[in-house]
Amino acid sequence: QLNGGATIVVLGASGDLAKKKTYPAIFKLFKNGFLPEKTHIVGYARTKMTHEEYIQRISQYIKVPDNEAAKKQLNDFLAITSYQSGQYDQDEGFQNLDSYISKFESESGFAEGNRHRIFYMALPPSVFIPVAKGIKKNTYSANSINRLVVEKPFGMDSESSDHLARELGALFSEDEIYRIDHYLGKEMVKNLMTLRFANVFFGQIWDRRNIENVQITFKEPFGTEGRGGYFDEFGIIRDVMQNHLLQVLSLIAMERPISTDAEAIRDEKVKVLRCIPPIQLEDALLGQYVGDGEKPGYLEDDSLKNKESVTPTFAALSLFIENERWEGVPFILKAGKALDQAKVEIRIQFKNVSGNLYKNTPRNELVLRVQPSEAVYVKMNNKHPGLSFQTIQSEMDLTYNRRYSEMSIPDAYEALILDVLRGDHSNFVRDDELDAAWKIFTPLLHKIDNDKVQPKPYKYGSRGPEELDQFIEKYGYDRTGSHSYVWPVQS
Ligand code: BG6
Repeated sequence: QLNGGATIVVLGASGDLAKKKTYPAIFKLFKNGFLPEKTHIVGYARTKMTHEEYIQRISQYIKVPDNEAAKKQLNDFLAITSYQSGQYDQDEGFQNLDSYISKFESESGFAEGNRHRIFYMALPPSVFIPVAKGIKKNTYSANSINRLVVEKPFGMDSESSDHLARELGALFSEDEIYRIDHYLGKEMVKNLMTLRFANVFFGQIWDRRNIENVQITFKEPFGTEGRGGYFDEFGIIRDVMQNHLLQVLSLIAMERPISTDAEAIRDEKVKVLRCIPPIQLEDALLGQYVGDGEKPGYLEDDSLKNKESVTPTFAALSLFIENERWEGVPFILKAGKALDQAKVEIRIQFKNVSGNLYKNTPRNELVLRVQPSEAVYVKMNNKHPGLSFQTIQSEMDLTYNRRYSEMSIPDAYEALILDVLRGDHSNFVRDDELDAAWKIFTPLLHKIDNDKVQPKPYKYGSRGPEELDQFIEKYGYDRTGSHSYVWPVQS
């Protein structure tokens, strides 16, 4: 544990991720009293900035109510943050950073052995390795706890990811590395284990005998505007599927871990990922959005250099898990930019009732809504109330903002940074997990890149390519009843 104090170094402090996610999350932890008593936050980046410019930049996305107490809290937080500029590939910058942190540690009375440092790399991948080297050589705190937090992308395929893993592994131990996949910090994703392993009724039906198919859907209603440079190199599969959606899949599909310890959970995730053969191109539907007359298409984005790009902005992929529990059950991952709505959900469709007395009743579905507005609901068949004996599709519904209206849900980054402070690896990606994940996707990604597979067009703001419904039906999804559900009125 961090014994009363620590220094959190935010590398890449002048960038977008730091200002939009990292600093607001650290502020929330400060506000709620979760930072160790004596904590100092040091921003580090190449940009030269005055202290005022730094403060202005990092507080842009921190929202506080308009009252004196809240403003004081923000000022107290800003008073424990400061900035150092330096290069990413030269020792001098990291040596200066080390002296700077040491001064704070001495002033705070941190004893030798208690000079704990957390290095948060909010950086582009091109500088991951030079920065990790610079830190290890010049800014590492001997005999104390050092933790390195790394953000995706962890490579582009198996080979580049292995390379990164080897380089980082030569510098920091696996125990010191925290690979963030921010989906693991989301409330509903963290709830998956509880739902499965703390409820007898879910535990009993969680297999190929009862489940027909599973869909994990990610939809964003905006395109890649302004991010075309980054996105075009990666595409939707690397951007959100190989990491975020696959993490969700592994939590749904893994066996029960022997305990809730980080390593026990991660062992099970790796095991199930290793049962998934590489995805075949026949099991993929790729799309790219085109303009709708008002909003520009992907290729019309000013930030995109290659105007003939075939990078998918949408994909639907079917994966199969070759084990006793899941053989033959398709897991369909769907993700797209510039779609009709913002939504991340898991939809588990059960099999038809055998020897059904009631004809044409829709299948049961369990839906876990990750965002927006967390909810768990089961679509089930009920007797139509009254004198009728007809069935009616209804739902058992746990909508968080009604059932837990007094409780607040932390942002994913807040939850994950707290885990780093506590030294809990459960919600971080282990090196062998990453390796297993890339093995599932790399052959498909190489095929798409090498053969320049043409994506199907879909209109900005639509549900995706026209071929989507047919694609999903091919894997046994039955849409009967899917239109009758009316989302409960939000309170
Ligand atoms: C990021 C992707 O990892 O996740 C983005 O790079 C995507 O393209 C984002 O928009 C989605 O995160 P969230 O938390 O908004 O669902």
